Amino acid sequence: MRQKKGRIFPDRVWHGSSETNLLKQATDAARRVHLCFSRGAVTYTMKLTEALTTEHAIFRIMFDHMERVVPELKAISEIKLLARMAEKILCGHSEVEQNLAYTTLDHMLHEKGCLGRLSTEHQELYACFHQAQKAPDAAESRRLVLSAIVIAREHLNYEEQVIFPLIDQTLQKESLEELGAAWKQQQAVLVAET
Ligand SMILES: [Fe+2]
Ligand SMILES: [Fe+2]
Repeated sequence: MRQKKGRIFPDRVWHGSSETNLLKQATDAARRVHLCFSRGAVTYTMKLTEALTTEHAIFRIMFDHMERVVPELKAISEIKLLARMAEKILCGHSEVEQNLAYTTLDHMLHEKGCLGRLSTEHQELYACFHQAQKAPDAAESRRLVLSAIVIAREHLNYEEQVIFPLIDQTLQKESLEELGAAWKQQQAVLVAET
């Protein structure tokens, strides 16, 4: 599929695409983000919170596309395909987020009353995208995917407005950059596995 220059995702990425193609396009988008940071970034090391925020930006582009196309999709298989892809991509992100950030700061986040909410929202997200794949008809699958996107958007906003600033305030710049380097390594492994 021909892709417009400068766009992370092409406009009609989802229509008629196989799962392999969709995953490949998502992976390519992630690679492009890596390249943006690598290019001329010899002296610049990303902080973990910057890396996670960048991934959020990609998710928002993905959600915009999904919200545009899912209401038009008639075939349940296509809706389920998108639900599966979104679940897979978000799971990878959340795992890295939990392993690198939330586990390191679990005491502080627990004291601030944030840890439970983060965990609950991650579970809700997986469950909603997962149920969309088990739905008996297209309408229900569509409804669940669109609900999951609403939950996901709220979750991303919460992390960026509350959690990431807390992490930035708590950890030293060097620690944030070390975690950023660890994020990059984990992403490289994930990209190699797809
Ligand atoms: Fe998260
Ligand atoms: Fe996140």
